[in-house]
Amino acid sequence: MSIKYHNGQFHLQTKRVSYIFSVYRGLYLTHLYWGARLEHGVDLTYLPEEFIFSRANAFHVPLDSENRVFLSDLKLEFSVVGGGDYRVPAFHARYGDGSTVSEFAYGGYQIYRGKKKLRGLPATYAENAAEAQTLEVTLRDALTGLKAVLCYSVFEEYDVITRNIRYENAGAGEIALLSAQSACVDFYGKEYNLLHLRGDWARERYPEVLSVGRGIVTIDSKRGMSGHAHNPFIALTAKNADENSGEVYGFSLVYSGNFSMSAEGDSCGGTRVTAGLNPFGFDWPLAPGDVFQTPEVVMVHSGEGIGGMSRVYHRMYRERLCRGKYRDAPRPMVINNWEGTGFDFDEKKLLDIAKVGAEIGLELFVLDDGWFGARGGDTCSLGDWHVNSAKLPNGLRGVADAVNGMGMKFGLWFEPEMVSPDSLLYRAHPDWCVFAEGRKRTENRYQLVLDLSREEVCEYIIGAVSEVLRSANIEYVKWDCNRNLTETADQTQPHKYMLGLYRVLETLAERFPNVLFEGCGGGGGRFDPGMLYYMPQTWTSDNTNPIARLKIQHGTSVVYPPITMAAHIGSIDTGRDCRNAFMDVCARVAMAGNFGFEMDLTRLSAAERRQAAEIAARYKHLRQTVQFGDFYRLESPFDGGAAWEFVSADGKQAVLFTYQTQTALNGESRRVFLKGLSPSASYRCNGKVYSGAALARAGIGIALEAYEYAGEVMVFEKIESEFEKN
Ligand code: GLA
Repeated sequence: MSIKYHNGQFHLQTKRVSYIFSVYRGLYLTHLYWGARLEHGVDLTYLPEEFIFSRANAFHVPLDSENRVFLSDLKLEFSVVGGGDYRVPAFHARYGDGSTVSEFAYGGYQIYRGKKKLRGLPATYAENAAEAQTLEVTLRDALTGLKAVLCYSVFEEYDVITRNIRYENAGAGEIALLSAQSACVDFYGKEYNLLHLRGDWARERYPEVLSVGRGIVTIDSKRGMSGHAHNPFIALTAKNADENSGEVYGFSLVYSGNFSMSAEGDSCGGTRVTAGLNPFGFDWPLAPGDVFQTPEVVMVHSGEGIGGMSRVYHRMYRERLCRGKYRDAPRPMVINNWEGTGFDFDEKKLLDIAKVGAEIGLELFVLDDGWFGARGGDTCSLGDWHVNSAKLPNGLRGVADAVNGMGMKFGLWFEPEMVSPDSLLYRAHPDWCVFAEGRKRTENRYQLVLDLSREEVCEYIIGAVSEVLRSANIEYVKWDCNRNLTETADQTQPHKYMLGLYRVLETLAERFPNVLFEGCGGGGGRFDPGMLYYMPQTWTSDNTNPIARLKIQHGTSVVYPPITMAAHIGSIDTGRDCRNAFMDVCARVAMAGNFGFEMDLTRLSAAERRQAAEIAARYKHLRQTVQFGDFYRLESPFDGGAAWEFVSADGKQAVLFTYQTQTALNGESRRVFLKGLSPSASYRCNGKVYSGAALARAGIGIALEAYEYAGEVMVFEKIESEFEKN
């Protein structure tokens, strides 16, 4: 049993982690511990009363008559407004009489096997009831009848604890939720940094470390989409934590819209983390009988630094967030026409590219933007999801059949959430977009956003996409979203939009179980766990320059497994003077992810085609390890060079990717130390035999080249000893 209740104390335990809290004075849920696993019998209920302070009771609320325990020192699992806790609240509401004061008290708990689905929202899941255990603790506000049900699921084998809160209006009055966070965790101590992933278009998810200090550090999105600027992830890290060691506490929100995650260093020596829907502009009516479900936060503690945390997220998200036919299947190598042709193509041009793709050994041809309506550029036709027969006289079926005939699957780009003002759809339904009465309709990339908070709009999208998917043998969909929301009409619309989108995606994923869906958000603008629940991979960034990509993929891997990162060799025309070398470095970066090509392959010379075929064959040999193995960041591209290592799940293969980002004429020597190998085993690489212990402890020297972008892919195959064979 991974959850135990004893004497008012809840102990949640995974293989390596304990998370402990208790009921204090029948009123509060006090956080006691989160860290390396403790024995089940441990009793930490002394902690809230160990601070015998003489605080100024004029400014700190005393919880006992002797002025020994103060609310400001209490570490809370749930926090409200109005009773003297001035830290960032987990909950804020306006009641019928206009009051925003809440007073919750403990109202019981239940523990059950497994994990329930979250109504209308994506979440991690247990494949069977034995895999997870769930604790639900109920808190009640006596005056209004509002219940907050705090849900904790423990995945013992995965070392993961998930949290969410369900709000139930069991009273008789209207309630407006102003802040409904998914989790609040109060840490003892104040010496923390906050790690998050920042960026913008073409430079998504660069890791950044901020000092929390005695301020409030907030990472958020008000864009309606999770966005390029901040990812819905933060980790609190001990000051001495680094990639390989130290305490790290990760919070990853399974949501794709407006979110907020903050860390606050308080005046009494504690640090509070809250995570959930962005309270900014949030005002959600909860009528008597209504239930509001918050998104899930996936919490990971690592005592082995940021790398240890990443590997827990990778396994969890690969195996218990992503779903469907492709969850455990090697992902096909793609050739996408976008960077090669843009909007300028016809059937012949597409099939010529596909033909070279097939010769090279690629497995899936993706037709990107421009195949529908009158779309000759980005100014029109979003919403008109019927084939442009001037470009494709034999329809999608013609292209799909021809591509299938070459032995490849066929895939298609859509941007279903959008509408161009210059489209049949907009002319028929000008009120279907997100807009505010009397205000201008702000366009981005000449497009508006369809209002997915409306049922009929969602139905239109489901119908239109389904019709296209049924019209030909389409086995892959790239689901793009090239702008954020503006002019939202009311405070509920952004979250309702997400609920609508999730319903659309759930319906389509269920209806087309054989289709591989890939998310996209103007590059990596919606690369989040919410989308991965419906689509097991995402286009990582529109920036396919390999040196830029090193940083993007490195940062993305802090949370997301490499199999989820679509990574293509882009146009090599930018490497005019050294196309072969340039293709090689593009390949080494793309091969460390979910690999493909994105160019006009017909422009490759015969020698370059041979090189491309070798690259594809090489990736095929490594694919299982890269897509399903453990990932180690050995060196960071933010510090000059980069080195990444993958170790296959069965431990038989390790792949080392090294990259040089600067010229190194007469440079300093470079050595990397491999991880995850068996110290007693031997490994063969390039005809040499190495001991696992030596590779880990003595390391391996990296050849220095005079030119920037140099590097290697080294494959270490484990030599099975006689002993192991038996
Ligand atoms: C976005 C995507 C690109 C491509 C274009 C098409 O920018 O990120 O990969 O699909 O849209 O318009």
